[in-house]
Amino acid sequence: MATTHTAHDPLLEWRTEFPTVESTLHFISHSLGAMPRSVEEALRRYTHQWKARGIRAWEEGWFALPTEVGDLLGRIIGAAPGSVTMLENSTTAQNVALSAIDFRAPRNRLVCTAEDFPSMLYLYEGLERRGAELVRVPAREGRTIDEDDIVAAIDERTAVVAISHVMFRTSQVLDLTRIVARAREVGARTLIDAYQAVGSVPLDVEAMGIDFLTGGSVKWLCGGPGAGYLYVKPALASALKPAVTGWMAHERPFDFDSGPMEWHAGPRRFWVGTPGIASFTAAREGFDIVARIGTPTIRAKSLRQTERMLARADEYGFHVVSPRAPERRGGTVVLDVPRADRVCAALLAQDVLLDFRPDVGLRLAPHFYTRDDEVDLVMKRVRDEVAKANP
Ligand SMILES: Cc1ncc(COP(=O)(O)O)c(C=O)c1O
Repeated sequence: MATTHTAHDPLLEWRTEFPTVESTLHFISHSLGAMPRSVEEALRRYTHQWKARGIRAWEEGWFALPTEVGDLLGRIIGAAPGSVTMLENSTTAQNVALSAIDFRAPRNRLVCTAEDFPSMLYLYEGLERRGAELVRVPAREGRTIDEDDIVAAIDERTAVVAISHVMFRTSQVLDLTRIVARAREVGARTLIDAYQAVGSVPLDVEAMGIDFLTGGSVKWLCGGPGAGYLYVKPALASALKPAVTGWMAHERPFDFDSGPMEWHAGPRRFWVGTPGIASFTAAREGFDIVARIGTPTIRAKSLRQTERMLARADEYGFHVVSPRAPERRGGTVVLDVPRADRVCAALLAQDVLLDFRPDVGLRLAPHFYTRDDEVDLVMKRVRDEVAKANP
């Protein structure tokens, strides 16, 4: 069967690079992408270098690695070399970006949405103690965020519009065009949480005119934990003085100068402390594969397979929470089935990898390595477990 499908779908040739997709029904790339086979060898080389070269490893590759990996990610999001900083996770990346923004009245508002990822909402809440005024755009029916509501919330009091590109609960894709245009019109910055987009939904930071963008390695990029990233528009970067900073962001870190801080003029400006070389080494493998395939190719396949999942969902009478319109739906299909927690646990125990989120239900995502017959199979397995959990 695999051979027949491969004939029609060249992306299936990548399956040999992802052992997990052969041993499981892998529908969890919105949460943890499958591990590229090559990570094992990359990490072996890393440990060997550490053991054999010791402190010299910094000059022999480690110090350059974060910028190299950031540039690789930059290719996926249309960012210029040197404009993407690798950090530990996306919350840290947002924290660094926010620390470079002034929240002094009268321009002290942060516009976000009620559906943004909780980690970011906690950060935004914290900014209220530093003078920011939070404008949280509520969701409409079905947890949908309407771009009109965001545009209406932006005015001359807005310092930053901090919103997700693809919503983590519902997988709704927000059309950023008008939002970014409105922010620019009033002189506000844009900070986009693109974690659920990058590697799944194509985006081009330069063409879109985005100021800051954050995300991480764990999900669609198949990079494993420990690598977040921050894009900063190059025209903006040299004027910014992030308060969340550290010695690695200094122009001459090895002068061990006690201050005042002199931020690096180049790509280290938004670094903090010692970079996570092991996790960036692992992340590079997945980033490289996604960059080679190209997100538009991944997106075309995702739209085809999520369409197929929606057809099955209708056939089985499931309530679909994620959007149906192609331009609105991200890479994940969300099914509000009764007792979703139990259904999820039962399926995980049978090597069917998916997750569930309170209030919305099961989240299932195909990725570039998914076969069409697996799409059919996973939907059948869900149908059977829903029936068992709800006798
Ligand atoms: C949209 C979105 N933003 C942020 C995060 C969290 O990122 P991190 O754990 O890297 O801070 C997630 C998921 O974990 C997410 O789905």
